[in-house]
Amino acid sequence: MDELLNWRGQFPILETTTYMISNSLGAMPRAVYDRVHDYAESWATRGVRAWEEGWWDMAVSVGDKVGAIIGAGPGEISLHQNVTITQAVISSCFDFSKPRNKVVLVDLEFPSIVYFYMERRRRGARVEMLKSEDGIHIPLERVLAAIDETTLLVPISYVLFRSATIIDAKAIIERAHKVGAHVILDCFQAAGTVPVNVRELKTDFAVGGVLKWLCGGPGIAYLYVRPDLRAKFSPSLTGWLAHQRPFDFEIGEIDPREDSFRFLNGTPQIPALYACQPGLEIIHKVGLDRIREKSMRQTERLVAGALQRGWRVNSPRDSAERAGTVSVDCPHAREVKNELIARNVMVDFRPGAGVRLSPHFYNRDEEIDFALAQIEEILATRAWERHLQPA
Ligand SMILES: Cc1ncc(COP(=O)(O)O)c(C=O)c1O
Repeated sequence: MDELLNWRGQFPILETTTYMISNSLGAMPRAVYDRVHDYAESWATRGVRAWEEGWWDMAVSVGDKVGAIIGAGPGEISLHQNVTITQAVISSCFDFSKPRNKVVLVDLEFPSIVYFYMERRRRGARVEMLKSEDGIHIPLERVLAAIDETTLLVPISYVLFRSATIIDAKAIIERAHKVGAHVILDCFQAAGTVPVNVRELKTDFAVGGVLKWLCGGPGIAYLYVRPDLRAKFSPSLTGWLAHQRPFDFEIGEIDPREDSFRFLNGTPQIPALYACQPGLEIIHKVGLDRIREKSMRQTERLVAGALQRGWRVNSPRDSAERAGTVSVDCPHAREVKNELIARNVMVDFRPGAGVRLSPHFYNRDEEIDFALAQIEEILATRAWERHLQPA
């Protein structure tokens, strides 16, 4: 008996759908109804007093719940609106007009991050973009060689969104530290499905969102800064939450706090800070070792089922190298995905990847088999044709 299935009752959407899209949006825990109600209640009954009764601190205090999952200590994380903004906060600590101005990127990074750093070229950044050879793996040796004495930042995903490949973050961090560069490890597709320990990795920064594998909903992204580096960095993208005395309303230069508030700026997104908590609590309770063990078993089942049917798999074959998603490049993948959604099998499609199937700790093995059988049937009956776009 799979004990993790006991959690299914906590996720309403599992009653009506085959939910295999936790790489995109994790299922909402039932307790979110109550937490959002708590938010409304505090606003309705406490009004402006709610700020000093918890709201003001939430962008750091709730961060501890993420910290417990990714190996960060209390007070070491600040919470922001999305990952792109966390990259903006981090990069605003650096001066790209100096000789050390290179940003090393891989073309398998999430596009938003690439767009962001390409625009940093207007501020003097030099971007070296390394191309993947197979669309599944990063070219590790070339990445390591590109990280040199002129490198300032290496923003890189721990798990690649397109293929779910787990990269060798340790090697990259060690290389960066040898030459004085800083690594921003994007743990979005890792945290919640693969054990992550930012302290052990010694990464300078770690970022990610909570809406996928952490079941925390949209609106919250975490920013971890290695504690010994915190005081060294002062974001120029800053604001009154980072100031030592925000309620003195002083005009002039900021006197930045020394804790994680230092990385905040304006008023935090309070409703999302309420809504994200049940997911974080559940993931912590279930435990990453158990989640990972089950994920390896279920993704293995998906890979085997896809290969058996003759479909290409655009994720690593080796479970040790593969995170929670299997990209199945079956024929007519885009239209097949649309038919799957019409049949209440929740998956997504990415060009160059195929249909992405992402079981989480709450999925049954039978759902894996069902999804694969549905794809087979959609192809055999040509049901995918109804989703063809007119030329
Ligand atoms: C690895 C990774 N980074 C970043 C993002 C998105 O960032 P943002 O929070 O800015 O939307 C995603 C979204 O899918 C992602 O998979």
